[in-house]
Amino acid sequence: MEAKLLIDVMHKVGPIDDRLYGSFIEHLGRAVYGGIYQPGQGTADDEGFRRDVLDLVRDLRVPIVRYPGGNFVSAYDWEDGVGPRDKRPTRLDLAWKTVETNEMGLNEFARWAKKADSDVMMALNLGTRGLEAAKNLVEYCNHPGGTYWSDLRRSHGIADPYGFKVWCLGNEMDGPWQTGHKTADEYGRLAAECARAIRQFDDSLELVACGSSTGEMPTFPDWEAAVLDHTYEFVDYISLHTYFKNLDDDLPSFLAKSVGMDNFIRTVVGTADYVKAKKRSKKTMMLSFDEWNVWYHSEEADSKQEPWTVSPPLLEDLYNFEDALVTGCMINSLIRNADRVKMACLAQLVNVIAPIMTSDTGCWPQATYWPFYYASRYGRGVSLGVECDSPAYEDPDLGAIPYLDVTATHDEEAGRAVLFIVNRSMDEPVDIDVRLGGFSAKGIEKQVLMTSEDPKAVNDEAYPNRVRAVNTDIFRLAGERISGALPPLSWSMVSVALR
Ligand code: AHR
Repeated sequence: MEAKLLIDVMHKVGPIDDRLYGSFIEHLGRAVYGGIYQPGQGTADDEGFRRDVLDLVRDLRVPIVRYPGGNFVSAYDWEDGVGPRDKRPTRLDLAWKTVETNEMGLNEFARWAKKADSDVMMALNLGTRGLEAAKNLVEYCNHPGGTYWSDLRRSHGIADPYGFKVWCLGNEMDGPWQTGHKTADEYGRLAAECARAIRQFDDSLELVACGSSTGEMPTFPDWEAAVLDHTYEFVDYISLHTYFKNLDDDLPSFLAKSVGMDNFIRTVVGTADYVKAKKRSKKTMMLSFDEWNVWYHSEEADSKQEPWTVSPPLLEDLYNFEDALVTGCMINSLIRNADRVKMACLAQLVNVIAPIMTSDTGCWPQATYWPFYYASRYGRGVSLGVECDSPAYEDPDLGAIPYLDVTATHDEEAGRAVLFIVNRSMDEPVDIDVRLGGFSAKGIEKQVLMTSEDPKAVNDEAYPNRVRAVNTDIFRLAGERISGALPPLSWSMVSVALR
């Protein structure tokens, strides 16, 4: 098969916000305890943070991490996790049927995030709590001192306010599984009240209203329209969440799912713009895709998990090469829509549906680590439109699916233009011919490729590099043209240094 592609320096989709490469840590399973935090573990530092995990997280260059949930946050009392550890209560976590010791709380997490070179995206409990707890938490975190909540923080040894910028107004409040689940009107009103109060404190904070927990919800997209009707003038983002499964072991349709992700984004954009028009607003609502990933491998094991234990292994998906390809496609969907998707969180970061796994003795990158690693390092700057005449196959649900999923970025500061390409074909290579319009190319700076003889191959502690991206020479540059033969079922990246 053959495909002709064109990118042009002038054909910009929009600037890529660095926070497109965010991630997520929830008090869930072994994400916190045994993941980022494990006092006494061989690599743990004096605060109990695992240095081996921090190294892998820092390598991913994650600019922001959402915390502390997720479903967990909707019944969480943030006050339980601050102050002297020996006075912190042990509680039931209704969301995951576990026991939360509160050994880690927001101050410990903020210290961890600093070590990970990340900002914190703080989520508020709008399930069992509301305005009062939300405003107190914002004051505790962000006010310098001299008031009850800021002085409480200072008494906990944190003299300077954190200045957390991004606040999520609850989590998946449309989901019947959510503690304190609400109708769109109930949630929209509460979110607007909280947002108004937070804005009274500091109008420069960035607020995220809950959109639908998936595009498959029966209330989608009425939920978005109703929630934004209440909140439009007070929030900056509407959230999107998506997890893909391959339960039928049907790889072509698994790989097609990211086209559904593009459709989901476009529908949310359309709904937000409808509310904008209805309100005669000048503001354009941006999107925070603050949970996205593949999630299904662990479902059976989780259904057998004993309830009410402390940090049991939950949602421990072992990701194979197929999942890495889908991850590559999902990242492409985010880059392709970077004009409106300004933040995104790979859910999650460690042990729980995560690119990084740990044992007591070590940690290692899953297959899905690699597309994220290269996109986060090379895919910054501006997202470019890609004209691509790729051949296509038919998916029963989504229609024509191009074999090639391609995005392009231009980082003027770094002097590079980059292509990220997934070849969805099960058995055929695709020869590409790419024209780089308006660029003056110096040479290929970096080219990497992920393929696997066994699509089901996974990494583990004994073989952490079974599935990974490796340097390649499949791409050639001649003048302002890139050519190459993309192997079937492959993810690749080529970065061209510019004059
Ligand atoms: O990321 C795992 C869970 O998925 C989150 O807690 C929830 O928000 C979503 O349903």
